[in-house]
Amino acid sequence: SLQAAPAVEERPAPAAVRAIPKEVTILFGSQTGNAQNLAKKAGKTLEERGFQVTVSAMSDFKPNNLKKVKNLLIVVSTHGEGDPPDNALTFHEFVHGKRAPKLEDFRYSVLALGDSSYEFFCQTGKDFDKRLEELGGTRITPRVDCDLDFEEPAAEWTEAVLAGLSEGESSSPSPAAASVSASAPAESVYSRSNPFRAEVLENLNLNGRGSNKETRHLEISLEGSGLTYQPGDSLGIYPENDPELVDLLLAEMSWDPEETVRVKEETVTLKEALTAHFEITVLTKPLVEKAAKFSGNEELQQLVSDSNQLKSYMDGRDLIDLVRDFKPWNSSAQEFVSILRKMPARLYSISSSFEANPDEVHLTIGAVRYDAHGRERKGVCSILCAERLQPGDTLPVFIQHNENFKLPENPDTPIIMVGPGTGIAPFRSFMQEREESGADGKSWLFFGDQHFVTDFLYQTEWQKWLKDGVLTKLDVAFSRDGDEKVYVQHRMQENSKELFQWLQEGAAVYICGDEKNMAHDVHNALIDIIEKEGGISRDQASEYLADMQKNKRYQRDVY
Ligand code: 2AM
Repeated sequence: SLQAAPAVEERPAPAAVRAIPKEVTILFGSQTGNAQNLAKKAGKTLEERGFQVTVSAMSDFKPNNLKKVKNLLIVVSTHGEGDPPDNALTFHEFVHGKRAPKLEDFRYSVLALGDSSYEFFCQTGKDFDKRLEELGGTRITPRVDCDLDFEEPAAEWTEAVLAGLSEGESSSPSPAAASVSASAPAESVYSRSNPFRAEVLENLNLNGRGSNKETRHLEISLEGSGLTYQPGDSLGIYPENDPELVDLLLAEMSWDPEETVRVKEETVTLKEALTAHFEITVLTKPLVEKAAKFSGNEELQQLVSDSNQLKSYMDGRDLIDLVRDFKPWNSSAQEFVSILRKMPARLYSISSSFEANPDEVHLTIGAVRYDAHGRERKGVCSILCAERLQPGDTLPVFIQHNENFKLPENPDTPIIMVGPGTGIAPFRSFMQEREESGADGKSWLFFGDQHFVTDFLYQTEWQKWLKDGVLTKLDVAFSRDGDEKVYVQHRMQENSKELFQWLQEGAAVYICGDEKNMAHDVHNALIDIIEKEGGISRDQASEYLADMQKNKRYQRDVY
């Protein structure tokens, strides 16, 4: 018959599966959860094909065990200026240091995640790939560098790994391994690759009149989706481009908006493709290099041959600048869209608790507007929310679980939350959750923004939690109300004695918000406080904080 036999009957008789399944270790380094999800997915696929798989965060892996590993897979993302994610820091340092072991009879492969609009694209993956070779490893399959659209290349990498691991050896599925997938918990059918169309219930500006900022509070319905989440998780949104920009681009290229183009297996109008399917607001090196082939403009050929010049050209410019600056273009619309990046999802830290608001998800989104190269630029998703999205509209969304930003398992554990600006979001979720569950642990919030009168996000909620004892302490820093700037880290320093006392009692520290300036300065302030109040050296204080990080008592959600 054409029907496949049930899996159970396909398995060879026990005698035939005596071969010990090959052991594979998968280590991930993940900040937002993408690398972690891909590592788990690869692990599941390998298990189904009979391998004995261990999947673990790099921070949970004992470096000394590296010597015992024969097959290692690394899935790791890159942040900022080529930096490893927090939970990869220690392992990255170990592997690159003098104490790293010589690796004999050791095979590995790296799946690197990144964003090609950054200079140090996939740098952390490249680091591991190079270093493991230096230490004596051989590649199972070459490293794959993924851009924001990582699902397909990741799946191809997993297949290549499987082929590489299976070379010359039998890997018949063992009965124990084959049952793994069956025991996985039921999940929603909606995911990053199959987003749920969620209805917007509420959309408000949290800032008062006269503020320099606009922060949107969104309430979105998950009803009927089966989606759930935990405090610390994020919501992914697939936004649409600003229709004005799409029209500008169409006009600039003299394309017919109704012309159809192919996008994967779909046929859509060009206008629809440029609105919903592709990114048009960011230039990347691979994109400009490919575009150069279509331009009859000498200057563009010159530009792509000089990487420093290219870098400074791309900074702050978008596709409209490119098509204007380097005419004429000798390509069809179909050719042109085929070089664009797929519209990436935006991730926002969820600011509600599912337990407290069943079937709802709340977001706190800062509207991004700035001038560059003589034009006002707007954040794609934040401005969609600020200017066009109405209650009743729908958005394609998914939940991105984040294991690296979680309330302590013990509800009695004290928490210290540092979240200026939109960094407040996950802490609103934490408080709603602790209020709902009646957790007894102490909690302390450090919040900051420009002005008390216009920018104290969710002010009445915080004051109520303080009054009711859900929140134990609240310290705020309004940076532009006085003559001198005050930031959250100044408030932390002023309270250094008590803050250190909380740390000694086992408090977990959370930082959410701006990475480049705030998170860095707050990190240093924590080291100052530990050094001063602990009466220890600066190195020891750094060690103290690194230990907290290892024990998940220091977690960051920064962007
Ligand atoms: P500023 O814009 O007045 O400099 C949220 O955006 C708050 O974070 C604002 O009050 C902002 O202050 C402040 N902020 C800016 N840079 C910071 C830093 N390095 N550390 C802490 N807070 C910072």
